Amino acid sequence: MSAPDPVPSTTAALLDPPLHVAIIMDGNGRWAAARGLPRREGHRRGVEALRRAVRAVGELGIKILTIYSFSAENWTRPAEEIGDLMGLLKRFVRKDLAELHENGVRVRVIGERAGLDPEVLSLLREAEELTKSNERTTLIVAFNYGGRQEIARAARELAIDAVAGKIDPEKIDPAAIESRLYTAGLPPPDLVIRTSGEQRVSNFLLWQAAYAEFVFLPINWPDFDRTALEEAIGEYRRRERRFGGVTARAGV
Ligand code: FPP
Repeated sequence: MSAPDPVPSTTAALLDPPLHVAIIMDGNGRWAAARGLPRREGHRRGVEALRRAVRAVGELGIKILTIYSFSAENWTRPAEEIGDLMGLLKRFVRKDLAELHENGVRVRVIGERAGLDPEVLSLLREAEELTKSNERTTLIVAFNYGGRQEIARAARELAIDAVAGKIDPEKIDPAAIESRLYTAGLPPPDLVIRTSGEQRVSNFLLWQAAYAEFVFLPINWPDFDRTALEEAIGEYRRRERRFGGVTARAGV
């Protein structure tokens, strides 16, 4: 009798997908440079990869996808590139919102809103408002987002409440901080994927990713597809998550 076929990776990913996957979409510029194309072409192809990612996440039964679409530090890029990224975001919402809604995607935006272009702000609000009752997948768009800034904001809010006598400073614990983060009420990421081969966290979900597994893929973001996502999930499933405890074996 021959050995049974190994479980195909697709099935394996479908059997036990992580609840929440977060992605640092890196390498658009390098993708373009390698082809002699302008950086904006890399970003444009990055949006296509984002569409593939959202579709794949839905197909694999992953409930939450967080994407790092614009960091608080990205403002240091040349004005022309910032303009390109803002233009792509606006176009993405205008072109894709109806389809996201039809596919049961709930859009949430995390990051600092003060000072954003009013047109961008109103599109982000429209996306959140239209999709707020959807339940199939949650797409969290980290936009003008920084993890340190988010934690500082939570600390500031707690300090203001403490000075006003609304909370006892002695009682400030991790749960109190968590309740003031942009992601309050959402489960933390199980898996953080970064493309482009860079192995850094770059101020992304610093608090929330405390016990996430990190998978670094050697491909640039515009080349990301369902196969790459399945590969990252396969790697995640081979890891043993201990959350600071001991393994079953080591604990004997
Ligand atoms: C990293 O590539 C990517 C970003 C700065 C942002 C990600 C943006 C997109 C995928 C397109 C915009 C989509 C939306 C919805 C806003 P990089 O420019 O840092 O690449 P490099 O490190 O190779 O230069």
